[in-house]
Amino acid sequence: MSSHTSYIEKNKNRFIEELFSLIRIPSISADSAYSSHMQTAAQAVVDALRNAGCTHTELCPTAGFPIVYGEKIIDPALPTVLVYGHYDVQPPDPLDLWDTPPFEPEIRKTDLHPEGAIFARGACDDKGQMFMHIKALEVMEHNGGTPCNVKFMIEGEEEVGSDNLETFVRANTKKLVNDVILISDTGMLANDIPSITTGLRGMSYVEVEVTGPNRDLHSGLYGGAVANPINILTKMIASLHDANNRITIPGFYNEVEDLSTAERADFKNIPFSLENYQNSLDIDSVYGEEGFSTLERKSIRPTLDVNGIWGGYTGEGAKTVIASKAYAKISMRLVPNQNSEEITKLFIDHFTSIAPKGVTVKVTPHHGGEAYVMHPDGLEFQAASKAYIETFGKAPIPVRDGGSIPIVALFEETLQSKTVLMGFGLDSDAIHSPNEHFGVFNFLKGIETIPHFYKHFTKMQQENQ
Ligand code: BES
Ligand code: MN
Ligand code: MN
Repeated sequence: MSSHTSYIEKNKNRFIEELFSLIRIPSISADSAYSSHMQTAAQAVVDALRNAGCTHTELCPTAGFPIVYGEKIIDPALPTVLVYGHYDVQPPDPLDLWDTPPFEPEIRKTDLHPEGAIFARGACDDKGQMFMHIKALEVMEHNGGTPCNVKFMIEGEEEVGSDNLETFVRANTKKLVNDVILISDTGMLANDIPSITTGLRGMSYVEVEVTGPNRDLHSGLYGGAVANPINILTKMIASLHDANNRITIPGFYNEVEDLSTAERADFKNIPFSLENYQNSLDIDSVYGEEGFSTLERKSIRPTLDVNGIWGGYTGEGAKTVIASKAYAKISMRLVPNQNSEEITKLFIDHFTSIAPKGVTVKVTPHHGGEAYVMHPDGLEFQAASKAYIETFGKAPIPVRDGGSIPIVALFEETLQSKTVLMGFGLDSDAIHSPNEHFGVFNFLKGIETIPHFYKHFTKMQQENQ
């Protein structure tokens, strides 16, 4: 398929420029001050899909931000690939840690990206990766057309829990009928070690509030005699892990399935250097659940992490005060079989039960979602594998990832299809962090690999029938 590569080579600068235009729109879904930019970004995706070759595009309103839909149906008898991605991005804070402004993309070289990387919020997660699919469609259209039908569903609320996408998917199962779902919103091991994500963790996210006295108090006049909500909250949080770093919530591990010895042995096939890992983070040791390796801890084991904690006086200087309230945001990453609603319930029951007299505790659930796992011997993975062999010269390693894309489990439930997670980012691309970036190599390699997946999947699906 060298016509594809020569088309990409000829047009790569324009592809990058077009991605830059999309990145310049600050589509931050979490911050209501940016909602007009959300509309602009959604419209830009509609236009890009139409220009790439979709014969039908729609801006589908939801109770939140619009979902972009596009399709090119060439023959109902042929298989259909549904591409999912998101045009919303995480807030760029803290701004002062960015070397260049987050919404002014710039290409700079790094050790891992000697050909240059695009630095900007959303460069990798997920505008850059989502845009690869739009450009892959253009590439196919200019070189004989797509070998199958294609549908796109690009949402604007992934970073805030995809609440309205669920309603949309449940209401549009006919429109979204497909044979496989294709997503680039994860990573791969290294630019010369391609991998495909075969698992995602689920999520239960809660916010807790501990209330003590009815007002902030002088810590001299009252200190020692009343419960200090911050002292209590930190004590309660500390008790959520035991000495082996296992989570102490009763029932938390009940549904967690133990991997077989063979499955655990597969981790040995994943190239991983603990030393490089520690060095890249400037830590002198890793930390986690006893009895599991680092790769296992960050993929197949459930976790509980405080994402933010606040209360009392945090301004300049010292203020002697016992705050009336203390707060924390807590996320639990879940593994297959754990149910997010059940885990949220277990958390609420446990956390309220460990509160001592003298404080009241309120737990507010935020979003949740289920884990996902696929088997590398399935047709979907095998088609993807063939595509990577053509463009990387080697087969991708199946890797279970620690991140979450809650909608993937919902796709399986509602649309009965498997998702292939063809991620082209690197863990070091700093998604959600300052100086997020995406390699130019990765962007172009993605555009090159995707059409091969369409080709192999269509062929294998037809042979299978
Ligand atoms: N693209 C990420 C998820 C991801 C990244 C999975 C890398 C695997 C590897 C996605 O945009 C994301 O950030 N998801 C959130 C969950 C969501 C409910 C806010 C996450 O994982 O924290
Ligand atoms: Mn993402
Ligand atoms: Mn994200």
